[in-house]
Amino acid sequence: MHDVHASPALPRVIRRADYAAPDWLVPDIAMVIDLDPAQTHVRTTMSVTRNGAHDRPLRLDGDMIEPSIVWIDGIEADAWTRTGGMLEIPLTGQHHIVEIEVLLAPERNTQLMGLYASGGLLCTQCEAEGFRRITFFPDRPDVLSRYKVRLIANKARFPVLLANGDPVGTGDLEDGKHYADWDDPFPKPCYLFALVAGDLVANRTTFVTRSGREVSLAIWVRAPDLAKTDHALHALSTSMRWDEEVYGREYDLDVFNIVAVDDFNFGAMENKGLNIFNSRYILADPDTATDYDYDAVAAVVAHEYFHNWSGNRVTCRDWFQLSLKEGFTVYRDQQFSADQGSAAVKRIEDVRTLRAAQFPEDSGPLAHPVRPDEYQEISNFYTATIYNKGAEVIRMMATMLGRDRFRAGSDLYFDRHDGTAATVEDFALAMEDAGEIDLAQFRLWYSQAGTPRVTATLTHHAGDGRAMLSLRQHVPATPGQPTKQPMVLPLRIKLFGADTGKPLGEERLFLLRDAAAEIAFETVTETPVLSINRGFSAPVVVETNRTAADLAFLSAHDDDPFARYEAMQQLMLDTLVTAVTHGHADHQAVIDAVRNTLTDANLDSAFIAEAVLLPSDSFIGDQLAVVDPDAVSAAREALRRDLGRALERDWREAYERSRANRFEYSPAAKGARRLRTVSLGYIAASGAADAAELAFVQFENADNMTDRQGALTTLVSSHADSRIAALDIFYNRYSDNPLVLDKWFSTQALSSRDDTLAVVEELARHRDFTLANPNRARALVGAFSVNQRAFHAADGRGYRFVADQLIALDKLNPQTAAKLVPPLGRWKRFDEGRATLMRGELERILATPGLSKDMFEQVAKSLD
Ligand code: ARG
Ligand code: ZN
Repeated sequence: MHDVHASPALPRVIRRADYAAPDWLVPDIAMVIDLDPAQTHVRTTMSVTRNGAHDRPLRLDGDMIEPSIVWIDGIEADAWTRTGGMLEIPLTGQHHIVEIEVLLAPERNTQLMGLYASGGLLCTQCEAEGFRRITFFPDRPDVLSRYKVRLIANKARFPVLLANGDPVGTGDLEDGKHYADWDDPFPKPCYLFALVAGDLVANRTTFVTRSGREVSLAIWVRAPDLAKTDHALHALSTSMRWDEEVYGREYDLDVFNIVAVDDFNFGAMENKGLNIFNSRYILADPDTATDYDYDAVAAVVAHEYFHNWSGNRVTCRDWFQLSLKEGFTVYRDQQFSADQGSAAVKRIEDVRTLRAAQFPEDSGPLAHPVRPDEYQEISNFYTATIYNKGAEVIRMMATMLGRDRFRAGSDLYFDRHDGTAATVEDFALAMEDAGEIDLAQFRLWYSQAGTPRVTATLTHHAGDGRAMLSLRQHVPATPGQPTKQPMVLPLRIKLFGADTGKPLGEERLFLLRDAAAEIAFETVTETPVLSINRGFSAPVVVETNRTAADLAFLSAHDDDPFARYEAMQQLMLDTLVTAVTHGHADHQAVIDAVRNTLTDANLDSAFIAEAVLLPSDSFIGDQLAVVDPDAVSAAREALRRDLGRALERDWREAYERSRANRFEYSPAAKGARRLRTVSLGYIAASGAADAAELAFVQFENADNMTDRQGALTTLVSSHADSRIAALDIFYNRYSDNPLVLDKWFSTQALSSRDDTLAVVEELARHRDFTLANPNRARALVGAFSVNQRAFHAADGRGYRFVADQLIALDKLNPQTAAKLVPPLGRWKRFDEGRATLMRGELERILATPGLSKDMFEQVAKSLD
């Protein structure tokens, strides 16, 4: 089904600099779609208008479709031609009506782009370029149209018919069919088009907007899942209210529908008035969803809802501007989640995600700016850089402007560009105009790739009570960008007195703009300790001259909880890097700092649980010139064991203290569950004889998935025989629940046991494993490829396994396959033996006949 490129060696490169306004506009479009999984008829009627003085033909995008008939102004036409996927129609006047009929077979669509079948439903995914798989159209986000859609389908099989906008009529037809008409009054680009047909039930409520309009909200699922939709529905109302209060944004249609589908390439999609979700971001109940899942459901529901303004009312001019909607919307959903619980813990989680996904991307072969200059396949640019670094860029603007001026900037942006397709530059201009700030140099955040590195050296002259902080910045080279200019780095800085533990003056926001700068602090009478990049005010790597004692001090005394966490992480990281590079390290400073945090009665459990966790294998590896995954995991395990042993009484105490009587979803209860499972992990790491027993009891007695999966995770990495029993019990209990089975696969793929690779190879042959479902493919192959020890087995068997899976997956679903390439692409970071093996697998993939352009781009760039 996917594009087969005869000469993948010559991919077409799309460049931002080549942007030109569309030749033809399509102010109105009407579609009649007669749905059937085997053969769907799509009849599209477009009013087209010549845009500017030119004599070029109407050129419409198409992908794997053929026109069965074309009419121009009501007359059947045959003057059209086909070039590549394009349909080219010569037209003489300024305005015409063009009508096209296309036939589709949604049940054969395995790419899950365009119109496809999933678990008895028919649904669509159009962003970025899926609409051209449904009909011929100028498939670019700066062509905005008003849509009228009639859906027709067999009434018994597809009783529910949904599309964008408001419902305007329904009725019965012959042959057991019925129809539904939908009108969307807001002009939109075709990537926001959506339809769903199926046998669905709704969880409904109403929402009254602040100006008093009543909106009917519904979450549509298959009947057995209805009981799992309350959390998502509640999150929807909460985010609608939040966007009114925090951004002054009100909803604009009479209905807001969300549909959950099982087969989905990513998280969810913000189609106007009809969001379509991967079911993992809708369905949640205590028995099947972890606290992490609950939080993710709320965050993604909010994210897609927020797109109604940041994405739909104001959309993107071209795909190079993708971060305009995604970076801003991620920032908005992060703020929303921070407001629902502990802001500090949310910030810790967001920074952890950034470091796990974006920093490696920014230092590897696929590094690209937040506003890229070119791409081959746009689907490959839905990245952590566009989303998460993009959100950090917005956050820095908010930090520099302060709350009120940032809000004035966002109001001006929405006001100026409502109903249009805008650019990143438009956003920056609105912030400059309303916020009275000059962002000229700051714009480098959009154009320069790479994570800036800051070196901070604090010196103290006790005699004259002066401290000097000297700062230097360096932005590393990235592909296509050998030299960089200094950027604007907003650094929140504060000094603390080493003797009293008290702050020495107020926090300062320092904008580092030059390659180097010096900041003086006066009347510093005590030895100062430096707290820098508080709240992670800039997404950079900071190296300081702080000692282990300084870091331990900050982990106990800093008044910014994020900075306390950060100091602890840095202390752990320094210790682990010493252990890897010298073969051993003194663990005592970490042990003392962890004990202090664990037993600090003023801290909440959620924060403690985050702060006492060791940095991941891959984050430790990122600090090393050449990564030895075995040495890294040995060092980490040794520190875990020592922490487990030295603090065993404290872990057991925390474990008991965090025991709950019954499930409750509140920040306090979530924190307790988190600390309980983290403590269990350390008890197991200590080698305590009863650890497996403790885990098995927790596994069996749990009244919620967080405790159950937490215990299972501990068991699955252990030597205890009960791990087999637990896996069987878990499997049998949830064998009909695909989302929980995904956990069964991923928990095993993430195990730290020596036999993980063999287990994973076996699981790939399990009857419940399929590459056709993206969640399942990611649960096994995706999870395994981030398991540093197992994936990097020195004989290359892990690499071969992943490459085999990717080659097979590419034939079904290139987009999902291409997303899984980056772990193999990081070969430069490893020893020569591993690097050669990794390259060998990339070359084998590249040589595969019929490789998709998605895979081609990722793999070819990774080999460079
Ligand atoms: N706009 C969607 C979201 O972030 C994601 C669309 C992803 N599309 C893709 N081709 N990867 O909410
Ligand atoms: Zn988004």
